Amino acid sequence: MSYEEALKKLKDYGQEHVLAHYGELSETEKENLLTQIEITDFSVLLACKEDKKAAERGEITPLAAMQLPEIEEKREKFQAIGLETIRKGKVGAVLLAGGMGTRLGSDDPKGMYNIGLTKEVYIFQRLIENLMDVVEMSGSWVPLYVMTSDKNHEATVSFLKDKDYFGYNKDYVTFFMQEMAPASDYDGKVYMEEKGKISTSPNGNGGWYSSMYKWGVAEKAMEDGVEYLNVFAVDNVLQRIADPCFVGAVVDGGYAVGAKVVKKCAPDEKIGVICLEDGRPSIVEYYELTQELMNARDEKGDPAYYFGVILNYLFRIADLEKIREKKLPLHVVEKKIPHLDEKGELVKPDAPNGYKFEQLVLDMIHELDGCLPFEVERGREFAPIKNKTGIDSVESARALCKENGIQL
Ligand code: UTP
Repeated sequence: MSYEEALKKLKDYGQEHVLAHYGELSETEKENLLTQIEITDFSVLLACKEDKKAAERGEITPLAAMQLPEIEEKREKFQAIGLETIRKGKVGAVLLAGGMGTRLGSDDPKGMYNIGLTKEVYIFQRLIENLMDVVEMSGSWVPLYVMTSDKNHEATVSFLKDKDYFGYNKDYVTFFMQEMAPASDYDGKVYMEEKGKISTSPNGNGGWYSSMYKWGVAEKAMEDGVEYLNVFAVDNVLQRIADPCFVGAVVDGGYAVGAKVVKKCAPDEKIGVICLEDGRPSIVEYYELTQELMNARDEKGDPAYYFGVILNYLFRIADLEKIREKKLPLHVVEKKIPHLDEKGELVKPDAPNGYKFEQLVLDMIHELDGCLPFEVERGREFAPIKNKTGIDSVESARALCKENGIQL
C-alpha cells in the first residue's frame, strides 16, 4: 500500500495520527507501518460508539441442562459412544492460548506459568496430562490444535518444543495464530505502540474457527476425518479434555454443540449463564444478568439460570462450516494499553486507559441450532486461573488440585 492510499484509509476512519512520525522512520519501518495499515480492520473501532446497541438482548428464557444424575445413569452408554468416536479419529481438541492473561500479570504465555510447589508443574503440562488420560483410555492420539497470537506464538511454540510437548506425540500437535485488532483510547483513536507500529491485541477467542480455517488447519483436520472439536481455555487446570462421556452425550443427541456447565456457587458468581435467547441457545454474561433473572425459579424451585459455562465446548465441524463467514458481535473491553504519549515516549499505564475489541466463543453458540448444556462437578473439573491470588487464582487452583489428589 502506498503512503497516499494509507493516508486515505486512515482519513476514512479519523486515524491520521498513525502517520504522525512517518518522516522519522527507516525505510523498513515505513514499509512495515504501511503494511500494518493495509491489513488492519479499523471498522472495529466504530464498536466503542455502538456498544450500547450491541448490548441489547432478545427475550431470555431458561434452557435445561443435562444434570449429573441423568449423566450417571447413562454414563456407560455415553462413554462407549465417546470412546468409539475418539478411536475413529473424529475428535480433535483446540487449546485457546492466544489471550494476554493480563490479570495473572506474567510476561510469559499463561500456559508457561508454573503452579508447582515441590516440583515444576506448568499449566500446559496439567492440560496435556489431562488429555493423556483419554489417550490412554482410548488407545489413540487426539489431534491437539493450539491457537496462539502474535504476542505469544514464538514463546509458546519453543516452550512446548523444549519440554518435548510434555510427552504428547508431536505429530498430533498443530499450531495456528489468531488475528489481532487495534486497541484505542476512549475516543476510539488507535494507540501507537511504537512510532511505526499501531497498538494491537488479540481479537478475542471468538475467531478461533475462522483463524483455524485461514491457516488451512481446519481443512486438514476435516481431511483427516475429524468431525468434532473440543475447544477449551488455557486456564482451567482440572478440566477434562475430549472427555468420552461428554463426547458420547453430544454425539448421541445429535447436537451441533455441547457446553460443559457447572452449578453456580452464588447467584452473582462472575460466570456466563446458559439460556435461550429468542428461543435459540445463548449465554448471558454475569454483568448482564438482571436481579429478576438471578431470582427466577424453575418448576422444581431451583434457580432457573443455575448453570454457568466453563469455556469447554464440543462443536460439530459441519455446523461450524455453516457459520464460518458470520460476523460475531464485538465486545468492547476496557484494558491497560501501553502506548506512546505525545512526546513519543512509551507509557505503561497502571489503570485501564482504553479499549480492546474482542469476539467471543460464547457468541458462536447462539448461531447454532442446538446446544446440550452438560453438567460437570465443579470441584472436580473447574479450577480456572485468572488471578495470582483470591478467587479463580493460582492459590484456589492449587487447593482444588490437592483435593483431587494431584501432586504439585
Ligand atoms: P480470558 O477471558 O481469561 O482472557 O480468556 P485473557 O486475555 O487470557 O486474560 P486477561 O483477561 O487479560 O486476564 C479465556 C480464554 O480465551 C483465550 C485465553 O487464552 C483463555 O484460554 N483467549 C482470549 C484467546 O485465545 N484469545 C484472545 O484473544 C482472548
